[in-house]
Amino acid sequence: MSKNKTVFFCTDCGNEFPKWSGQCAACSAWNTIAEQPAVSKSKAKTSGKSGRSGSSLLGNAGLKRTPQKLKSLETSGELRFSTGLSEFDRVLGGGAVIGSLVLVGGSPGIGKSTLLLQICGLLRESSKVLYVSGEESERQIKMRAERLGVKSDNVFVYSETELTEIVSAADELSPDIIIIDSIQTLYNPELTASPGSVGQVKDCTMALLRLAKDTAVTVFLVGHVTKDGAIAGPKVLEHMVDCVLYFEGERSMNYRILRAAKNRFGSTNEIGVFEMMDKGLVEVLSPSELLLSGRPQSTPGTCVTAIIEGTRPILAEIQALVSPSSANMPRRNSNGIEYNRAMMLLAVLQQRGGLRIGGCDAYINVIGGLSIDDPGADLATVLSLASAYRDKPLRSDIAVFGEVGLSGEIRQVSQISPRLSEISRMGFNACILPNSAKYTNDSANNLEIIRVKNISEAIRVAIVE
Ligand code: TYD
Ligand code: MG
Repeated sequence: MSKNKTVFFCTDCGNEFPKWSGQCAACSAWNTIAEQPAVSKSKAKTSGKSGRSGSSLLGNAGLKRTPQKLKSLETSGELRFSTGLSEFDRVLGGGAVIGSLVLVGGSPGIGKSTLLLQICGLLRESSKVLYVSGEESERQIKMRAERLGVKSDNVFVYSETELTEIVSAADELSPDIIIIDSIQTLYNPELTASPGSVGQVKDCTMALLRLAKDTAVTVFLVGHVTKDGAIAGPKVLEHMVDCVLYFEGERSMNYRILRAAKNRFGSTNEIGVFEMMDKGLVEVLSPSELLLSGRPQSTPGTCVTAIIEGTRPILAEIQALVSPSSANMPRRNSNGIEYNRAMMLLAVLQQRGGLRIGGCDAYINVIGGLSIDDPGADLATVLSLASAYRDKPLRSDIAVFGEVGLSGEIRQVSQISPRLSEISRMGFNACILPNSAKYTNDSANNLEIIRVKNISEAIRVAIVE
């Protein structure tokens, strides 16, 4: 038997190590190794072979499995259901899948409990929900539910942190949906580790996973993301669950973005946008409007582009600031556009656009904390840099898109028609796009279409002299 009473694990990737080191050997992160008590059973093993984590808790639910013929498996019937929040459904890939385990991660106070409690009120009246909270008492949940207008008859709240109790409550109630708020407060008394430790969090998740797969209940887990690693974050659970959603946003700003980091049943490109109001979260059906509100007119260094997030077009504003550098090495910073891509665009501007931008400090920022990985935003980045460098504004009624190649050419991007429709819907008069772009006529209604071949041409037509 091992004498180790503690183990070390990486708070980023969850790998375990027998001893401490400065850098995680698995994910190469520095200073993320933390010490935790080893996971050991305090009682004698209860069931010989199935002494593995979590499995013993489910009793007969974990029926003996045999290999099944793929062809003979039934897939008819409703596999997904709507949560009642269309933005949430979109991120899940068109509704929640029955029997799936969904992790909703985010920093404390971002609105995870609010989101999930709100869903309790929006689900079909016939779905039975068990809302388990380890953080709030039943009365506190009731107070919050009243504020959020949750009136459903079929919502059961349970303030409990012991896994066995939760599993037996689920057995008794047989709900359609279980919400666990949060996974870090849960504990399995069979283990000696404290709640929130990697061992407990993994074990409890495994038990809930078995519950979801065996009884076709859909489980939503809340997971707090913390920086200090005092409690195990959602990262260590990512590989176990079916979907990982991150709820992000600046706490000082009212809007929140729900993003899928992993989805076994759909795309991970979709985002859902919400605004936090006094009566809970409200869906933002037109994120472009929100992202463009308060946009400065006739100021240098700002450009609007149309990007595709998942299946929908969103208009985003890219800003740039360029100033002569006083240092030997000019400063470069990029928020929302990948750093190396931004550096490449700066080099293209210098070499192919004829702008002496190499010796300047340059800062790039995407408004609203959005991160863009659509190459269609290249042209907007280049134009906002050129406009900032020349200190001349771009036409304010114009939006642009197109990928920029290394020789300064503007290249074709995908999904041109939806981008154009969104630009026209948001009231722009003109659009600069790649010369070879093909689109349907009705998407460009009333838009002046300006086709460009390279960045010099784009700079010439876009900048107001
Ligand atoms: P909460 O859902 O408790 O966050 P989490 O579960 O992620 O820790 O949300 C807390 C924040 O949301 C808090 O700062 C107050 C704000 N809030 C509102 O603005 N309106 C509301 O109706 C509710 C319920 C919360
Ligand atoms: Mg909470």
